[in-house]
Parts: sequence; C-alpha cells; structure tokens
Amino acid sequence: MYDFAPQHDLEKPELYSALARAANALVEGEPDPVANMANLAAAIWQFVPDLNWAGFYRVIGDELVLGPFIGKPACIRIPFGVGVCGTAAALGTTQAVPDVHAFPGHIACDADSRSELVVPVVVEGRVIAVIDLDSPTPGRFDDEDARGMALVAQVAALSI
Ligand code: SME
Repeated sequence: MYDFAPQHDLEKPELYSALARAANALVEGEPDPVANMANLAAAIWQFVPDLNWAGFYRVIGDELVLGPFIGKPACIRIPFGVGVCGTAAALGTTQAVPDVHAFPGHIACDADSRSELVVPVVVEGRVIAVIDLDSPTPGRFDDEDARGMALVAQVAALSI
C-alpha cells in the first residue's frame, strides 16, 4: 500500500518536492511503462489540488495518443502542433495556458477545464510523451507549477 498523505497547505516548491519523492518511490524498480504512467497520474492527482484531469499522452508516430490518466474520458489522438498538448509536443516546451478558451486550437475534452499545463517528457532530446494537467480554475498554473511538474516529467523520462 502507498500512503503518501499529501498536504495541500504546503507551498508549491515543497508540495512538488514531496510529489517528486513519491513519484520516484512509485516507479523504483518497476520497468512497465503503463504501470508507471498510471501511478504517476494517480500521484499527481493526489498531490496537486484543483485539477479536473491529469495524465499522459504518448508520442506515437506523428501524433499523440492518450495514455493513463485520471479524469473524464478524453480525446484519443492529437496531431503534433494541434491544441495545447500538440503544441507542447511539437515545440518540446512547457505550455501554461491561463485561459484555454483563448488558446487557438485548444481541444476541449472536459467542458469544466479553464486552464491547462502541459509538460513534455524528454528523453535524449526527443519528446516521448507529455503530461497534461487541466483545472476548472482560470489561471491555475504558474511558473512554480511548471518547475514542479518538470521534476515529475524527469521521473517519467526515466520510467515510461
Ligand atoms: N486540452 C488538450 C486536450 C487534452 S485534454 O485536455 C485531456 C489540448 O488542447 O491539447
């Protein structure tokens, strides 16, 4: 049993340090990428408050394909360069979108989503997946969230 008991009243740097420690513990010694993505998505969901969707899209060929996640069922395939996820994958850079309705090409998977953070998972300079977080709160994600989730993306890069 894993019982991380995350404290949501922590400052973001401490919260994401705790999440990164939990993420490392979850994937340690486990080679299966689906199991690791599933547990990482669950840990993100447990630690990061105010989300309505958290999970992975994997790079397969020239598109993103839905991976393990927590939230409502989502669109399965996203072409490179399309939407927030496809933009993060194509550019290899984190996308923090304060108002998804103002983002050209945003793909609405859950009508509750108002802001979004997408962090690429990079292995040897190549994007192999993205981690997507959606929030029902506008402007939910800032630089501290982006830096914190980059720690989780590093764990994912070594384990998925
Ligand atoms: N909104 C995303 C699509 C994925 S869902 O949010 C889960 C996008 O624009 O890429």
